Amino acid sequence: MNLVFLGPPGAGKGTMATRVSEHFKIPHISTGDIFRANIKGQTELGKKVKAILDAGDLVPDELTVELVKDRLSKDDAAAGFILDGFPRTIPQADALAGFSTVDQALNFVLPDEEVIKRLSGRRVHPGSGRTYHVLFSPPRTEGKDDVTGEDLVIRPDDQEDAIRNRLEVYKKQTQPLIAYYSERGLLVDVDSAPAPDEVFAQVLKILS
Ligand code: AP5
Ligand code: MG
Repeated sequence: MNLVFLGPPGAGKGTMATRVSEHFKIPHISTGDIFRANIKGQTELGKKVKAILDAGDLVPDELTVELVKDRLSKDDAAAGFILDGFPRTIPQADALAGFSTVDQALNFVLPDEEVIKRLSGRRVHPGSGRTYHVLFSPPRTEGKDDVTGEDLVIRPDDQEDAIRNRLEVYKKQTQPLIAYYSERGLLVDVDSAPAPDEVFAQVLKILS
């Protein structure tokens, strides 16, 4: 099962990808998480992309495509995968079609006002990528990861300016992928507005 998760920033792609990955035992591949891990580890790649992510702009296609191509060649992706946040441009989607197939593209739909509420309350555990929300899915202890007890942080691109830019970038560069996958008969919309359990139930219905 080769899946692509589309949708605006903060639509819940990562939250649902984590659940789908556990349920179907297929890897959750988030280009955003890979970039953030490289930034944290201060690798060459991390140094190259830090300013881009902080501003909410897109990393160049060639770099992102190579990264995903390499990741999909690993054994654990042979029986399926969830691509969360890739492709994000038409050239990325064309490149993906050249080295893999897509069985379904799930389009997580959420209005801008909700995006802003979700991103401004998001807290993440940098080590694992586990994601919380101060109101909608708070950790057991404020500011601490449920599993490790380590500190939660606010993503640098969850500042107001960066959020606004990410929404704009999404509309210009990524939204055209809705038509792209729809024309190929692969697109299914998911209403991302309800609570996580309800969104997950919709996803399971689509995938079963
Ligand atoms: P990326 O990490 O992919 O960020 P994004 O697309 O902006 O999406 P988010 O991770 O912000 O949101 P999400 O949809 O995963 O929502 P989440 O589940 O966390 O990319 C970051 C950056 O990396 C890009 O800006 C770019 O620079 C670069 N990049 C990445 N991929 C690239 C590519 N292909 N090409 C070029 N550059 C690339 O949920 C959000 C919040 O809402 C959380 O707090 C969560 O707890 C809460 N929540 C989730 N679901 C619900 C619900 N149903 N009800 C209530 N609250 C909910
Ligand atoms: Mg995410």
